[in-house]
Amino acid sequence: MTARLDHIIVRKTAFDVSDVPVWWNDGDPVITRFFDALSVHFPDGERFFIQSVRNFQDKVTDEKLKADVKAFFRQEAQHGIVHDTYNAVMAAQGVNVERILADMRFVLKFAQKYLPHKYQLALTAAFEHITATLGEGFMAGNADMFRNSHPSMRAMFLWHGVEEVEHKAVAYDVYEKAAGGGYFTRTSALIVGTALVHVVVGRVLWHMLKVDKVTGRPLLIAKGLYRLYGPNGMLTSLLVPYLAWFRPGFHPWDTGIPEKVSAWLQAYDETGDPMAASRKVFPETADRQAAA
Ligand SMILES: [Fe+2]
Ligand SMILES: [Fe+2]
Repeated sequence: MTARLDHIIVRKTAFDVSDVPVWWNDGDPVITRFFDALSVHFPDGERFFIQSVRNFQDKVTDEKLKADVKAFFRQEAQHGIVHDTYNAVMAAQGVNVERILADMRFVLKFAQKYLPHKYQLALTAAFEHITATLGEGFMAGNADMFRNSHPSMRAMFLWHGVEEVEHKAVAYDVYEKAAGGGYFTRTSALIVGTALVHVVVGRVLWHMLKVDKVTGRPLLIAKGLYRLYGPNGMLTSLLVPYLAWFRPGFHPWDTGIPEKVSAWLQAYDETGDPMAASRKVFPETADRQAAA
């Protein structure tokens, strides 16, 4: 594991999502729609992140951080563009994307109007901790959350996850160095942010399961939720790194860069192809996909 990255690279990517099946992640409606419910919120959420950092951009004096902030804006903007293309696929499936985005924009506008800029930034730093923890989870050991997934969706989430790890300290550092920092505000923001994610994503996940006509199948739903929140669940396994935020003196680079993130970065450097990089980090799963 390397300690941290020297600089953040912006990658212009695109993924062919034209033949993505409805339940693209292991044929499991709950797991698939959990990632879909996250994905649908990314473009607007990321615009909120950009704006909340931009509010403090003038107060950043450190040259390295200044450059990182600019790269962070460009990476998040690119994430928004890519996830937007998948929103069109979900809309064609019957998901009420327009309504979901209208609700999201209402919440974000409310936050931008009534919350102090510093709290907006603390929320962004907290959300970035969540996305980086997820990104590190995507790349942890053998815990492949996209086993038996459509290869484009898998590559899209791995690319996004890697870049979340790359820029995981930017909002945090701006909060600490340019906004005055502070333990209570930062930790309360993660509690508020986590509750908000569960309410917003949970509501949208349920809507999607209704569209899929599986809300009357409790066993199927319970099985999916168990895979997320059970003792060895995908999200349960992230509890320890998630809770590290509450340690006084925590810094996002304390956890360094997972090996598979380094492997992905190297593969991308060599090929310029996020699909190839995705196959490189989880070759066994990629082989199974090819054989299927
Ligand atoms: Fe992002
Ligand atoms: Fe991010």
